[in-house]
Amino acid sequence: MTELTCQELLTAPFGLREVLLLDTPTDLAQLPAVLQGWYHRSTPGGGLLIYLRQPEVAQDWAARLVDMAEVGRDDEAVWYELQRPLAADAWDQLAAFTGEAREAVVGKSSAGIFRTKTAWQEADTATPAERAQFYARTDAYLYELVGYEPPIPVQPLAPATTRHFELAHGTGRIVLTVAQQAYIDAFDLSEPMRGFLKFRVERYYPHLAARIRVLDEWDSLPADSYDAVHAYHVLEHLEDPLASLRRLVALLRPGGQIAVIAPFEAIGPEYPEHNPALAHLTVPGLFAEVGVHLRETWKVGEWDAFGGVKPRW
Ligand SMILES: C[S@@+](CC[C@H](N)C(=O)[O-])C[C@H]1O[C@@H](n2cnc3c(N)ncnc32)[C@H](O)[C@@H]1O
Repeated sequence: MTELTCQELLTAPFGLREVLLLDTPTDLAQLPAVLQGWYHRSTPGGGLLIYLRQPEVAQDWAARLVDMAEVGRDDEAVWYELQRPLAADAWDQLAAFTGEAREAVVGKSSAGIFRTKTAWQEADTATPAERAQFYARTDAYLYELVGYEPPIPVQPLAPATTRHFELAHGTGRIVLTVAQQAYIDAFDLSEPMRGFLKFRVERYYPHLAARIRVLDEWDSLPADSYDAVHAYHVLEHLEDPLASLRRLVALLRPGGQIAVIAPFEAIGPEYPEHNPALAHLTVPGLFAEVGVHLRETWKVGEWDAFGGVKPRW
């Protein structure tokens, strides 16, 4: 816990974690600047404990920034605890990309999968071409996925020794993390997703730019050229996941690794974009069909993840 006065908070280094604010802004007109100062200087997930004498006004201001929890009260004042949401950076970055107010982005993002579900229900999705159009054009996933994004680590960069490829990069959470220690090429069918990831790299993570290529297609990538390929939450959306998996494996050098999350069984009203015709498939079954050795399984939240290796001969 770092103990700071308001003045010190406004000039503190970036990357603050837990802050105890020692004084209360006596002039409440200062409060927005103090809260914003903390917000910009703290890491996603970081906290601020603040002692406020006019809680109504303060709460009104704080609510515009982040959730604010009351933790204690006495005759004169209330202790509040603020936490900067984990997705805070991603929300800010998406607001800058779309030109919307941050609150608008947070509001849309808090609808989670329901926003995407509604977009799917309102779209024409009867044919494969219409479904491909949906993914190419929709911005619904941007708002959904950005809300789940963990903080992106920055510095120091490990030497880049391996080459990765990711199919369906979404908002880029894997790309931006892998690029801390490797090169990564990535493709997503969604134009808004590709645009957002390019914008993020250029504007917010320029130190990673030499390690990241956001591709507009992945047909012409050379075979046997990647050390690792990733496909998370995409195969269950496709018409022919086996064909895409074969292409992914062809990109790997012999001995290269593949990581997949694909909950084919998650179908029905909750997941209308998942292709119900694929519900009988499993990732280990597909690995066996394309000649990948299943090496490990693990959990990412509620989802099963599978790691495999392309045989050397
Ligand atoms: C549920 S999201 C997952 C995104 C990301 N992998 C993640 O885990 O956050 C599904 C993604 O697949 C993309 N997608 C759908 N069909 C695709 C295709 N045929 N080729 C590449 N990406 C596709 C969508 O645009 C969307 O970004």
